[in-house]
Amino acid sequence: MEMNYRSSIERVAKLIKESPLFYALTGAGISTESGIPDFRSPGTGIWEKVDPFATSTVHVLHENPALFYEAGFSRFAEMIQAEPNRAHHALKQMEDHGYLKGIITQNIDSLHWKAGSRRVWEVHGHLRTCHCQGCCQRFSFEVLVEKVAGGQIPPPCPRCSGILRPDVVLFGDTMSPAFFEAEEVLRKGCDLMMVIGSSLVVYPVADLVRFARKLVIINAQETNYDYRAEVVIREKCGQVLTDIVKALEE
Ligand code: APR
Ligand code: ZN
Repeated sequence: MEMNYRSSIERVAKLIKESPLFYALTGAGISTESGIPDFRSPGTGIWEKVDPFATSTVHVLHENPALFYEAGFSRFAEMIQAEPNRAHHALKQMEDHGYLKGIITQNIDSLHWKAGSRRVWEVHGHLRTCHCQGCCQRFSFEVLVEKVAGGQIPPPCPRCSGILRPDVVLFGDTMSPAFFEAEEVLRKGCDLMMVIGSSLVVYPVADLVRFARKLVIINAQETNYDYRAEVVIREKCGQVLTDIVKALEE
């Protein structure tokens, strides 16, 4: 059913007001307006230039750390400089106004955290810390950046003869504790899930949609779950979320 933009915004605001257990599921598309390219947008997606399975897996991290750190690490270092955009700020406002109960994010860029959102599950990890694969000691991410920038690859642990790695979930890793926590929370009830800026092609995170009694999707491209959504808005999420906050205040 084609609804014009205004009526879609009003429909989403009404759904949010009717849904005590309202969660957001965000992907890389919410951070493109902060200057961080996503993975699968035609023409600009990172995976169009770099093959994730040849560079960003646990296997490559262990067998060919030079490739892992050369191919993917500069992207990490750029990400930590980025600032939240209107979409992140709008979600924080929805949390402050008591609508949004939490955000499940696939993003490792910490932008929900920087925008001040409090209940955030970073299911693919984050770039604030790293850990040693030998003694498991955690260090700030800067320690890793310094060592890699200084050409120490693989980056040695400051404490033992082990090797450091970022606290992100790589292809081939087990899922983070945050993922299992988020799953438990959603299992207790999710009246409405708003998916923002995700192609919903990566599992097991895309599977979390099954807990949503009602679904709203805000995404520039179509997804395999559009058929299930009450409302699909195929516009840029910065504007859309700003307009939804305004509609909630009306
Ligand atoms: N507004 C709305 N949608 C947008 C915007 C925007 N400003 N910018 C991009 N998009 C949409 C794109 O059309 C795309 O469908 O966001 C979606 C982003 O999808 P992906 O690039 O696949 O990112 P994501 O779904 O988060 O990927 C999941 O894949 O490689 C792994 O670990 C990585 O967490 C990532 C996971
Ligand atoms: Zn160590």
